[in-house]
Amino acid sequence: MRTLILLLSFFAATATAGENQIFLKDRPGKNLVVAQCAMCHSLDYINLHATILDRGGWEKTVGKMINIMGAPINDADKQVIINYLAQNYGK
Ligand code: HEC
Repeated sequence: MRTLILLLSFFAATATAGENQIFLKDRPGKNLVVAQCAMCHSLDYINLHATILDRGGWEKTVGKMINIMGAPINDADKQVIINYLAQNYGK
């Protein structure tokens, strides 16, 4: 029984990871975004806001995730993530 549960959670985890891999545009910085932005909510949030946020909007949003939500993202990674979002999901 325990093995079955372990197996099931393994498949659930890999299914989610696979979905996230295909989901975002494959450009430099994607892996960082997948790693840092999917731990609290779906990566859908990025697509949903792509039409309304420009670079400044993404800077504010990522800043909010770090300062208010407590995302553990350092300054260097933050810049890579903002560049990725502004270039691929900016309005
Ligand atoms: C520590 C948890 C956490 C992490 C990590 C995180 N978020 Fe969020 N995010 C939240 C929560 C909680 C909300 C919902 C807040 C609300 O309803 O206003 C949210 C909401 C959002 C929204 C909706 C718009 C908004 O301003 O509320 C966007 C877009 C978003 N996150 C993008 C990101 C991106 C991009 C990253 C990676 C840089 C990220 N999030 C990482 C917790 C997190």
